[in-house]
Amino acid sequence: MNPNKALWEKGDFTRIAETMRESGEALVQRLGITEGLKVLDLGCGDGTTALPAAKLGAQVLGVDIARNLVEAGNKRAAEQGLTNCTFQEGDASNLQQFGDRAFDLVVSIFGAIFAPKPFEVAKEMVRVTRPGGRIVMGNWIPNDPTLVAQILKISSSYTPPPPEGFVSPMTWGIESNVIERFAGAGVAAEKISFARDTFTFNFPGPPSALVDEFRKYYGPTMNAFEAAEKNGRDAELQKELEELFNTQNKSPSKDATSIPATFLRVTVAL
Ligand SMILES: C[S@@+](CC[C@H](N)C(=O)[O-])C[C@H]1O[C@@H](n2cnc3c(N)ncnc32)[C@H](O)[C@@H]1O
Repeated sequence: MNPNKALWEKGDFTRIAETMRESGEALVQRLGITEGLKVLDLGCGDGTTALPAAKLGAQVLGVDIARNLVEAGNKRAAEQGLTNCTFQEGDASNLQQFGDRAFDLVVSIFGAIFAPKPFEVAKEMVRVTRPGGRIVMGNWIPNDPTLVAQILKISSSYTPPPPEGFVSPMTWGIESNVIERFAGAGVAAEKISFARDTFTFNFPGPPSALVDEFRKYYGPTMNAFEAAEKNGRDAELQKELEELFNTQNKSPSKDATSIPATFLRVTVAL
């Protein structure tokens, strides 16, 4: 089994996605979506950005490597009566099922960054976008002081080093890497713009309960806990993550969690 696929089919990412809906919707509102725009959402999960784009009238195709998330996305679209939003399985590093220039807008919010072979990912995103179209990526930033980079930093000290040749998804959060990867796809640096943006994780329970959600349902955190358990260090990992989530929580209520996380928004105008 492809380890990238196995990682995301593990657990149930929909539980984490539930905490990201407001920010997903707000981000899509800023993308200039118009009626009939052909949108590809890569690494779409269960549709945090795909569904709001369809609600704005776009023709949306969500592609994700995880079968369970594709099923969850199609179910959510059907429940919301969206006939202009469908989900299918696919790999961001090989979009051979799509012709050249097939989409007006390719969106990938914390999605394609997880595919191995980042140069292939950039090439494929460029190939399937029409001239005059756009690519918008949301990429977590390595060593950023906010939530996601810090979860990764803490988790990595409990897990064995990644296999030789592994390219961290976080490298997509470094502007020079983004420029280099799109240059490999023939895109000039002037066509790429960068902005810092924020996604807020909102959860109707205390921070420790949100840590539990990550521990039970988020593949990368599940793996970190499995590795920590082997060394009898799982309580230590739980404590470090609870401290992190508590420190970063901005909710005025002790029984709710609201944690903003900074990301790099990349726009490529083709
Ligand atoms: C952190 S989630 C983000 C999901 C969604 N974009 C959102 O904002 O909720 C990462 C997603 O990328 C998907 N993914 C990982 N590797 C992929 C690949 N090679 N091709 C397509 N999707 C991939 C995962 O299955 C997962 O749904």
